[in-house]
Amino acid sequence: MTTSVTRTRKDFLSILDLDSADLERCLDLAAQIKADRLLGREAPTADALGGRHVAMLFEKASLRTWTTFEIAVQELGGHVVALQPDIVLGKREAVADIALSLERWLDAIVIRTYSHKQLEQFATAAPMLHVVNALSDDEHPCQALADFLTLREHWGPLAGRTVAYIGDGNNVASSLAHAAAMLGVHLHVASPDGYTLPDAVVQQATGAARHGARLRLFTDPADAVSGVDAVYTDTWTSMGREAEAEVRRGVFAPYQVNEALMSLAKPGALFLHCLPAHRGEEVTAEVFESPASIVFDQAENRLHCQKALLVMLFSTAPA
Ligand code: CP
Ligand code: NVA
Repeated sequence: MTTSVTRTRKDFLSILDLDSADLERCLDLAAQIKADRLLGREAPTADALGGRHVAMLFEKASLRTWTTFEIAVQELGGHVVALQPDIVLGKREAVADIALSLERWLDAIVIRTYSHKQLEQFATAAPMLHVVNALSDDEHPCQALADFLTLREHWGPLAGRTVAYIGDGNNVASSLAHAAAMLGVHLHVASPDGYTLPDAVVQQATGAARHGARLRLFTDPADAVSGVDAVYTDTWTSMGREAEAEVRRGVFAPYQVNEALMSLAKPGALFLHCLPAHRGEEVTAEVFESPASIVFDQAENRLHCQKALLVMLFSTAPA
């Protein structure tokens, strides 16, 4: 393996837990790990997590994130502990008590939960345990790693490109905004009133911007998409918001990514989606299944990026 690994923070709860150089290095390492995968047990990282135990605690549904983390740990020589689905943070016992118990047995934990604050509380309570955010209500940083590895594979250097995100200013949009800023990618976000990117995220992305990356907010999706290199969307109703689905279907209807909207982007513009997708809602079947769509490349790259992330985290001794 030629890519050097440096020390990062103990946890990965947010893209902001990496600095720009670490983020670039994570993408480089992911590309190297992807290329090395055909070597199987001969891959240089095949024993990077040898003798380590990594638990998975998921309070929300998952196909891609669970599967890719389980394979990632296994391919790095570690052991996965799938925690029982009835382990819910703060339900049977206090968040800190769960964290303090688990850190006596484990080296890392991958958590998908609702409250980002609870996730932070958990990570603070367990100074010897690496904690990875597998999606919270606020952020989905593992997704953003895969998104930019995928774009880099298609484009080469990322800096100076422009991506438009159309729809809910949710967890996926927030992590995309953090990573875009740090990688020098301009981001246009078009959302209806009341569903915009949180102010805090706009400030964080603005503060983290490199290479002149600019974050611009729009209400009209046509304005946001005009001349961009890629268009990204996500579900109109994130997990935990199901009671609002009917209202959201109405509010977001003008934000559907369809062929008319895609035609306003640059010729050859790419289409991205974190999945799961809802054809006929946030994206039409025509766009989702078009040659512009790189959604399954994104899904594949979840695996390689998470392997890279785990290698980097485990190169950092906890406090
Ligand atoms: N994109 C993503 O996180 O997919 P899952 O919800 O299936 O894990
Ligand atoms: N925004 C979506 C992403 C799913 C991967 C959700 O939180 O449900």
